Amino acid sequence: MTLYSRVRPLAFKLPAETAHTLGKRALRAAQSTWLTRAALASNYRYAHPALETELFGSRFPNPVGVAAGFDKNAEVTHALEALGFGFVEVGTVTPYPQAGNDRPRLFRLRTDEAMINRMGFNGQGMERVRARLERRGPPQVPLGVNIGKMNSSDEDEAIEDYRRVFDRLAPFADYVVVNVSCPNTPDEFDEASPDHLHSIFETLAAENDDDVPILVKIGPDSPEDSMLELLGIVEDHDLDGIVATNTTTGREGVNSPKAAERGGLSGAPLAERSTEVIRTLARNADDDLPIVGVGGVDSAEGAYEKIRAGASLVQLYTGFVYGGPGTARRINQGLVDLLEQDGFSSVEDAVGADLE
Ligand SMILES: Cc1cc2nc3c(=O)[nH]c(=O)nc-3n(C[C@H](O)[C@H](O)[C@H](O)COP(=O)(O)O)c2cc1C
Repeated sequence: MTLYSRVRPLAFKLPAETAHTLGKRALRAAQSTWLTRAALASNYRYAHPALETELFGSRFPNPVGVAAGFDKNAEVTHALEALGFGFVEVGTVTPYPQAGNDRPRLFRLRTDEAMINRMGFNGQGMERVRARLERRGPPQVPLGVNIGKMNSSDEDEAIEDYRRVFDRLAPFADYVVVNVSCPNTPDEFDEASPDHLHSIFETLAAENDDDVPILVKIGPDSPEDSMLELLGIVEDHDLDGIVATNTTTGREGVNSPKAAERGGLSGAPLAERSTEVIRTLARNADDDLPIVGVGGVDSAEGAYEKIRAGASLVQLYTGFVYGGPGTARRINQGLVDLLEQDGFSSVEDAVGADLE
């Protein structure tokens, strides 16, 4: 029995957001000294040459990362690295601090191994995040920065929001993700409309003197023709990749009574749909367009399925909440076995294997 399997029933008695805050506090304490970080790493980090991947000009020690939303303000990047994640995506970061929606706004659907959230881009804003990244330095694994707009911004202000956050945080990022797929921001205008996306990416390209890789994060709920249209935009602007997917507004495969809560659904019930999106993108994209697969990954098999469907990297949030600190190690160890079983010498060799 692991420590987490003993702590989890207690943590799950608390409201989900309270448990999350306490968990992060524990991670902050754990990363605060070299010795505690080393102790975490020796328990949880797992390295194997087959897991190493070169992407976006960076070396990823393994393909299993932490998805946006877990560490919105870049407070625990070093602890997440010590827990064996191959990369960490912080954010969504907005230009100014923002309170987000009223609580409760995060719900566990335990029997479904899922969560629903309507956080609404709560966060400390880009200056606090920048100061923290400056002070603490980046983790030793690649760092993604996911950027967003203020809830109150109209279409033109939104573009300025992305520009400002990009300007302040791109110098610290190994890649930047433009998040236009949060189901919990106000519906003032269509964030994912082609015109809006063109304006965002034109604006960011003009700011991007250092050629920081730029990706876009999409939702799982759009029809195939909009996804293909998005691929066109990605290619027009020479973007570096797609993160697929964000949470869903759908409730398919969910039995918990909490399914009625408003917000984005994540975790196990999202897994198949997000893999389908990855497959559609990989089938239709230029050969070398990297896809970061996210949605319901909670096991080596789930990660491998997304890799074989075309994801070069995977991320998780909900699977980490349910699986605890040993999650990255367990998935990475399992991935090595699955690669060996199928005769692949590396993750890179298995990317898109199911598409042939
Ligand atoms: C509580 C919570 C907050 C999230 N916040 C963000 C966010 O700020 N930005 C973002 O791009 N995605 C956010 N996400 C979405 C995750 O990054 C991920 O795309 C989604 O949860 C599916 O992955 P999972 O099934 O592994 O959780 C959030 C998810 C959860 C559960």
